[in-house]
Formats: sequence, C-alpha cells, structure tokens
Amino acid sequence: MAALPARALQGNNAVPGTCVIGLQWGDEAKGKIVDILTPRNDFVVRYQGGANAGHTVKVGAEVYKLSLLPSGVLTPGVTSVIAGGVVINPAKAIEELDELASRGVQGLERNLKISDRAHVILPWHFAEDRALDGGVADGENIGTTQRGIGPCYRDKVGRSQAVRFGDMYRPKFRERIENICAAKNPVLAAISREKFEPLDPAAIYKQYQAFADRLAPHVCDTTEMLLTAAESGKRLLFEGAQGSLLDVDHGTYPYVTSSNSSGVGISNGSGVPAKYINKIIGVVKAYSTRVGGGPFPTELDNATGQYLRDRGNEYGTVTRRPRRCGWLDAVAVRYTARLGGVDAIAVMLLDVLSGLDEILICTAYELDGQRITHFPAHVDDQRKIKPVYESVAGWKEDLTACRSLTEFPDAALKYLDRVSELVGAPVELVSVGPGREQTILTGGLAT
Ligand code: IMP
Repeated sequence: MAALPARALQGNNAVPGTCVIGLQWGDEAKGKIVDILTPRNDFVVRYQGGANAGHTVKVGAEVYKLSLLPSGVLTPGVTSVIAGGVVINPAKAIEELDELASRGVQGLERNLKISDRAHVILPWHFAEDRALDGGVADGENIGTTQRGIGPCYRDKVGRSQAVRFGDMYRPKFRERIENICAAKNPVLAAISREKFEPLDPAAIYKQYQAFADRLAPHVCDTTEMLLTAAESGKRLLFEGAQGSLLDVDHGTYPYVTSSNSSGVGISNGSGVPAKYINKIIGVVKAYSTRVGGGPFPTELDNATGQYLRDRGNEYGTVTRRPRRCGWLDAVAVRYTARLGGVDAIAVMLLDVLSGLDEILICTAYELDGQRITHFPAHVDDQRKIKPVYESVAGWKEDLTACRSLTEFPDAALKYLDRVSELVGAPVELVSVGPGREQTILTGGLAT
C-alpha cells in the first residue's frame, strides 16, 4: 500500500474544506450558496437526509428544483457526491438525472457519485411514513415530508431489514427483498390506516434491479474517494440538508428529521474527519420559517406572518405546504451557530423584510417566570417559552436591485449588524433575491 501523502498526516486545516449548514428549521436557501461556492471546489458532498430537502437554484433564466442530487451537478468539472449518510430513493435520483439531461446538463455520468454505503428507500418505507406520522405518542403530528426518510433511517439503525446501495449488486439481493417483504407485510397490514396492498417481492425486485442497473455507473466507495481527495489537497464543499433545529439529536426532538442536520453530522455522514473542514458557513433566513409540526417560539399567526409568507413565497419546494412564518429567533440561531462551530453567517431573503415599520428579533425567552438566553432541550419547555423581543427600525426601500452593502438603507445595515452580534459570527453573504446576481459577498467570502 502506498504511503499516505504528508498532508494527510498534518494537523488541523491541512486542506480547505467548507461546509454550508442551515441554522433554523430548513429552507434557508442553502442551495443557492452551495451553487455559488461550487466553482471554488473540486467536490460537492451531500452527507445526510434524502429527497426531503428541496433546493431551488436559479441559473440565468433557468430554475432548477432538486431534492436529492447535490446542487453541484449544475457546475461542469466538479464531482458531486451523495455520501453514505444519505438515504436514497433511486427513482427520484433517476428522475432528477433525466430532467437535468433533458435540459442540457452534461457529464452527469462522470460527475455524480453515489455511495455504496447509502441506504435505499424502498416501497415499505413510504407505507410506514404514511402509517406512522399519525402523531407522536403524546403530541401532534411530526408532519413528515412522506418521503420514507424516517422509516429508512430506522431500518438502517435496526440493521436486520436494511438495504444499502451496494447490496443491490450482490447475488443475495433478491432473497433479501423476499425476506424483508415477508417480515414487513403483516406489520404494515396491522398499522396501515388506508387499504393495504401487500408488498409484492417479485415486482419490487424487478423494479429495483432496473434502478440499480441504471445507477450503476455512479455507484462507488465514496468514503475512500473523499478521503483520498482530502488527503491530496482537493477542495471539498459539504452541503447540509434541512436545518440544525431539525437535527435528530440536537433539534426540537421529536419534531425533527431522522438525521444529524446540524454541523455534527458532517463527518459521520461523509466519512471525512473534521480536521479537513476549516470553514463552516451557517445559513440564516432574515426571519424564521418552519414546515410541519413542533415548537416555533417566534411564530406569527397573523397578518405580519402572512406578509412574510407572501413576499418570501414560503411554500414548501418539496410538498408545497404553506410554511409557518415568524420573527428571527436569535437565541435559537446562536445555539445552532455554536453547535455547528460556525465561522460566518449568510443572511438570506433580507429583501422580504422591506416595507415593515419595525422588525422584531427574539433575544431571550421567558420560561416559568425566568428570563433565559439558552435554547431549552425539552420540547415541553420549547413550547412554553415566550419570546422576549427587541425592536429595530424597518425600511421601505426595495433591496432586490442592491449589489453592494453600500447601497443598503441604514436600517438594513443596522439589522445585519445586530443579527451578527446576537448570533456571534460575522456576516459574509447577504442575499436579496433568488438570482445568483442578487448575492453580496463580504469579508472572507469576498476574497
Ligand atoms: P422527514 O424528514 O420527512 O421525516 O420530516 C420530519 C420533519 O422535518 C417535518 O417537520 C418536515 O417538515 C421537516 N423537514 C424535512 N425536510 C425538510 C426540509 O428540507 N425543509 C424544511 N423542513 C423539512
């Protein structure tokens, strides 16, 4: 075996690796940032979640909506990776590949790699997602995206009924499908709230074998590939899906997704150790949104909430569900910025706030008569807390045509400064619209 390059044996920051993570409940417009940073990198890596994430990327007049493939696939010469921590619906991967190819995106066979360790979403996972999102035992519905994400992760951890991508190319694949169907059928019949058609192992095997054949050119050991890339000085960009407050361990559990969507998930999902990642960019919407159930301390169930929803087009990319909207919660974002070790923040959709007389920022909570400045761990407390707001002046000017911070009204600059101060990280990117050109880079990202 060849000796490891000396660089691999050095300490921290041996290689510039960057990660983009959402600091709220998802939908922070991370895809746009990843798309902008992609040309500066050799690899773009998705490492958790699945097709529950919705990424909208606008290139010129073209709008691309991706939910599974990394947005890096739109940039020629960059290798996009779906790493082992992702759960993959192969039909979705093929659908997105076909859509991109039909719109003239080239080189996909060479540029997209899928981990042989990634888990496969199978028909029973959709059935289980429908059957089991009837509510947390003593609470409301999680309101999942119904993409089979949670059930697939549950089987991954359970091990006995899981299928990884690599399994689809082994002689025992058919037998595995048959055995899992035999075990799942009676359980699904018992838990389904709708008429249940038993799983047909022969049909599922045939369908998934066709998927496996189609995706075979993309499948490889991405852990080995990424470690080799990191050790030889290639630049890696990690693309987090969902937001940190949906992290299965550190978010508003149990109203979360099933993976580590905060900064802690990068290494376990990709296999690349933290020492290769030297810049973490936390993405923050200028206000807050949430889709599905669960606590949302700064939610605005009023005309201001609707104002934000209308101006921000806050309807799910994947499910089209109206998103719940509210003021920026700086306590929650400071927590997730610390959790992720965030070096800089990107403030998105700032243009949406134009036209408001005053803007509120949550700077503390009241819990049982006490003022607290940390994000409580238990969902009961997260529901009970009352936001303590600070009011800052709004601005009337439209920001969508601004291309530099010097063009911003004073009130918008003051808002950015205050957010940065409260979150504890410098602002290095501000977005004032969906287009690539509506992005202002400052500080470290501008160089
Ligand atoms: P799941 O990930 O489909 O299991 O859904 C669990 C929770 O995470 C639900 O509240 C979803 O609405 C939320 N969720 C999952 N993916 C996203 C996303 O990409 N953006 C926003 N919310 C999401």
